Amino acid sequence: MLTRRQFLLAGYGSLLGAMAGLSGCAHSAGKMSSASMAPGLPHKGMGVFGSLSLKAHAERNGLLYGCAVRPELFSQDAKYTRLIIDQCDILVAENAMKWLALRPAFNSYYFNEADALLAFAEQHQMKLRGHNLVWHEQLPKWFASMVNRDNAREVLVQHIQTVAGRYSGRIHSWDVVNEAIWIPDGRADGLRKSPWLSLLGDDYIELAFRTAREADPTALLTYNDYGIEEDSQENEQKRSAVLLLLRRLKARNVPIDAVGIQSHLTANPNASFRGDGLRRFISSARDLGLQVFVTEMDVADGALPGDVGTRDDAVAALYRDYLNVVLANPAVTAVLTWGITDRYTWLQTNKPRKDGMHVRPLPFDEEYRAKPAFIALRRTFDDRQADASTQGADGSAANPYAPFTPNPTRARE
Ligand code: XIL
Repeated sequence: MLTRRQFLLAGYGSLLGAMAGLSGCAHSAGKMSSASMAPGLPHKGMGVFGSLSLKAHAERNGLLYGCAVRPELFSQDAKYTRLIIDQCDILVAENAMKWLALRPAFNSYYFNEADALLAFAEQHQMKLRGHNLVWHEQLPKWFASMVNRDNAREVLVQHIQTVAGRYSGRIHSWDVVNEAIWIPDGRADGLRKSPWLSLLGDDYIELAFRTAREADPTALLTYNDYGIEEDSQENEQKRSAVLLLLRRLKARNVPIDAVGIQSHLTANPNASFRGDGLRRFISSARDLGLQVFVTEMDVADGALPGDVGTRDDAVAALYRDYLNVVLANPAVTAVLTWGITDRYTWLQTNKPRKDGMHVRPLPFDEEYRAKPAFIALRRTFDDRQADASTQGADGSAANPYAPFTPNPTRARE
């Protein structure tokens, strides 16, 4: 049997082979505003296909690019489906693999959408992330009345065995535990007072990882969280608590391979992203031998003015600034956005704009046209390879598409 590393490298080697001989670089695209781009799919003449796609740029720079998907749309929206096939190396179910979707009743499972998604990913040679096995949200209604201290352990273990076991060997990485840290709950270890913690105590996390490893020995087992991205004091505290947890797991030989940084960001018209704390967090994760994934990136635009060009440029600038920090560390191996087109984004319901305009947090707009955020993603993937040769490039802060000036402290392998 292949080791996990061989498994990943095998997939990666064939991608690199397929890339040989491809050329093409979008740097000549320069500054684009959405108004200047051709409308509609197929996005002919827009330079986003093949060697110019997000996945091609990601692969050339040692990364995977992908997004969260709603598999129920595949049969309803051909443009959406095409866009995903064209742009992504890796997918994750936005909801279809959560307890709420998989567990209609205490004693039954519903796998249709999740199975269809895996079949789709495999048909198009894409990898699939599993999201998620343990979370305090999106639990089925029956959970509160049916699960108690006597059966919780068995219920958790059986769920992980059944779900991770069903897809064993076919999942790139599982978010085994999602969002287990919540500082406001006031515990010294920072753990969230989730139903799982109340039912099982603090070693539910260890139990979940050990069970997941047994059920699927090849998936990269991931701890996934948010609120660890920004420069704020709150985020710094949360980073410390997450690291404490990761260190504790490693010290106890718990099988964990990666940390997922959700990366739901908000564009702030009055402040730029520095990312010093995040940079240190990623280095510490790397020191623990973990890979790092950007698992759910999007940029909320609610604090920005309505003008679409201004908004798109500010959103793109944050994609650029954030990913330049994150991708400087070679431990980061995948970037996923939470959706791919503004047409389908959870932020439209979760963080709607006060002026009633549609939110624009993703790389493609509602009509599937590439936006400045698309260019920013592609360029940050390319900048990852940039080395001394680009130092001193004239990167003006005012232009989101100016060449990236590498930070001299960037880690290199
Ligand atoms: C969100 C989905 O996008 C929504 O459709 C759903 O209603 C709620 O969950 N962090 C996570 C994701 O880990 O699972 C969440 O997804 C977004 C925040």
